[in-house]
Amino acid sequence: MQSPKQQQRHLKLGAFFHPTGHHVAAWLDEGSQIDAGTNFEHYIRLTQTAERAKFDLVFLADAIATRDGNVEALSRWPQYMAYFEPLTLLSALAAVTKNIGLVCTATTSYNEPYHIARKFASLDHISHGRAGWNVVTSSNASEAFNFGRDAHYGHSERYERAGEFVDIVKSLWDSYDDDAFVRDRSTRRYFEPSKLHFLRFKGKHFSVRGPLNVARPPQGYPVLFQASASDTGKELAAKIAEVIFTPLHDLEKGQAFYKELKDDAARYGRSWDDVIIMPGLNPIVGKTHKEAVEKERYFQSLIHPDVGKELLSYALGGVDLNNIDIDEPLPDHIISPEDRKTNPRLSYLFKEKLTVRQMYEKFGGARGQRTVAGTANEIADQMEQWFVGRAVDGYLIQPPQLPAGLDEFIDQVIPILQERGLFRTEYEGSTLRENLGLKRPASSYTSASR
Ligand SMILES: Cc1cc2nc3c(=O)[nH]c(=O)nc-3n(C[C@H](O)[C@H](O)[C@H](O)COP(=O)(O)O)c2cc1C
Repeated sequence: MQSPKQQQRHLKLGAFFHPTGHHVAAWLDEGSQIDAGTNFEHYIRLTQTAERAKFDLVFLADAIATRDGNVEALSRWPQYMAYFEPLTLLSALAAVTKNIGLVCTATTSYNEPYHIARKFASLDHISHGRAGWNVVTSSNASEAFNFGRDAHYGHSERYERAGEFVDIVKSLWDSYDDDAFVRDRSTRRYFEPSKLHFLRFKGKHFSVRGPLNVARPPQGYPVLFQASASDTGKELAAKIAEVIFTPLHDLEKGQAFYKELKDDAARYGRSWDDVIIMPGLNPIVGKTHKEAVEKERYFQSLIHPDVGKELLSYALGGVDLNNIDIDEPLPDHIISPEDRKTNPRLSYLFKEKLTVRQMYEKFGGARGQRTVAGTANEIADQMEQWFVGRAVDGYLIQPPQLPAGLDEFIDQVIPILQERGLFRTEYEGSTLRENLGLKRPASSYTSASR
């Protein structure tokens, strides 16, 4: 059943910034900022542009290791090789923006909850309530080698650890009640002692006494994001995630995912409005449909074969593609005909008979996310159809190149969404929660005592 609030819903939009753009070869085009990863002015420009267009948030992904693999290929593909630590970058961007949400990844696999609670609480104070945390369990297995381990945690252990981690972080954010700081010179009392709480947590993975040495964040808790695809990951999302970035490619499957996730969240006492489904969308905008398709084709043609083979090898589970002809189909001895049919992760690559080059081009640019190439009207139509059809509440826009791809989307697609009444022309509030329409959580200590 629809609540009155749902009937008047507006699209939520995030802008996902990979330094030179989402497409692996975007940096080769002149519309990209070539030194983007460590160019602060580039990020100021992007974030202020997204804020002028009234995006809900900017999102920065993260790994705490470079990509692993063939260095020849890595040297032709800058993503994740040299770029700013995102919490540091977002703190600096907070000072030059006012309304836009500032969201980044921090892994629960190679961090301690106290560090993460403290850093996101600080960002929330610095930005006056605009922080968001994308909770991950590290998709880059080589992070293990930078943190005293020989191998990455197994998948279920990662998620078990993540569940405990998030519970601790939320409790640490509640260390001080909202009104703990009386700062009264006349009584010489800075904070009310009864309003400070020690956590004294001892669990399977962590032991944390607390309290946190930061006041409760302006949003209560910074907004929690998640992008899991597995059943274990989706269970954690149902429990804790307020915004979900999991990729969706098909309208009907998207509608099923939307309902499933919101219903699962209800099992944890959460309402449909407490969870926002916001999958990635790669918009490739052209003046005509033909121009957009040609632009996509052009980006694909820029992918160096070493990079393409590296991407494909990774997607196929680390197979050796060194001595194969990329203009021939993939030989059977590399992936058996049975595996092509039965492995759901691979079957979409083998639906048609493609050469190796066509295979890596098929997913290389969007890296598993949905691409829509077309005119601004066609892109807006697609966005509207999925939104009205309740497969999504919004989109994480992933421009193929930056800054040009962001400018094109903002100049051409956003005005159409606004004319159709699908997207805001002014921010509704000043915090990320207010703009996303999410409730401010009460402290677990004060709500328990009510
Ligand atoms: C939009 C998006 C952003 C993501 N950002 C990160 C990230 O910054 N760091 C990371 O380690 N994993 C990231 N992931 C990976 C997911 O957190 C997740 O591990 C992946 O989708 C596989 O799902 P699973 O963990 O449930 O198996 C991202 C995924 C998506 C779709």
